[in-house]
Amino acid sequence: MAIPTRPSMPTSITGLNWLTTDDGSRTLHDQRLNESYHSGCGALAESWLVYVLNSGVAERLRGGQATRVLEYGLGTGTSFLLTAALAEMHGVDLLYVGIENNLLPAEVVADLELLHAIKNFHADQLWRERFQDVRFQRSLSLLQEGWVSVLQQACGSLSSTELVQVAPHTRLVLLQQDACTLDTSLLRTVLDFEPLGGIHAVYFDPFSPEVNPNLWQPRVLQNAYSWLEPGGSFTSYCVKSSVRKDLERIGYLVRRVPGPTGGKRQVLLARKPSSPDSQAT
Ligand SMILES: C[S@@+](CC[C@H](N)C(=O)[O-])C[C@H]1O[C@@H](n2cnc3c(N)ncnc32)[C@H](O)[C@@H]1O
Repeated sequence: MAIPTRPSMPTSITGLNWLTTDDGSRTLHDQRLNESYHSGCGALAESWLVYVLNSGVAERLRGGQATRVLEYGLGTGTSFLLTAALAEMHGVDLLYVGIENNLLPAEVVADLELLHAIKNFHADQLWRERFQDVRFQRSLSLLQEGWVSVLQQACGSLSSTELVQVAPHTRLVLLQQDACTLDTSLLRTVLDFEPLGGIHAVYFDPFSPEVNPNLWQPRVLQNAYSWLEPGGSFTSYCVKSSVRKDLERIGYLVRRVPGPTGGKRQVLLARKPSSPDSQAT
């Protein structure tokens, strides 16, 4: 099937363009890698379903449970903003750790227009109700400003780590590092002060294994596993068989679940067992 041509717009970075995806939200397309930051079928729908919902994070926040998320590939911040808007709306504390080795300039991210996409989202009734909630929209608007200002002030150098209070309930640990050779000392320090320690959900969203094989090495997947609480989730858009086998070898309970309407047929939901003898369901 031919790939549809989608509206695109240049950014201030040569070879990096905004693409309007099929649900009206924007993603970036990197011409050099020939990779997009999200599925062209819907950046918003993908981020919401694959990460915020499938990971169980939306349910935790709705239930008032303080939550810690670790994202590999912070990119435009779409998954971060959606997760944080839920946390703010429910008044629940969120610690969000984002690993990124190529932080986008603030002036590029200022054109993400996620709130605009949320307001005009019409693909799914259930999500639309949440997206139309004024408290959600208000939180998102504040967070968007906060996120752009984090990028404006971020130290530009690789290997830096920062802890920023982005909104009343949202702390962001920004690890500007190569995820393959991660220095986790700041993360360790922060988590040591948390009542329970580990991470509840890993959003694994680097570029594809074809373009970015280093990030999909068992060593990196194992690292993510070691940060997870028992029962914690590991979600990704990628269901490649070799990746699923590596995850199973590490000890994850791996499932394929339906992807967003119009997008990938299946996406990945893996869990760290809650007890040593847990079985996949
Ligand atoms: C698919 S995009 C992530 C999209 C992002 N989740 C969002 O909502 O916009 C992949 C991201 O992974 C980052 N990345 C790629 N290789 C990396 C590495 N070795 N270490 C850290 N980040 C990496 C890229 O710079 C890019 O921002």
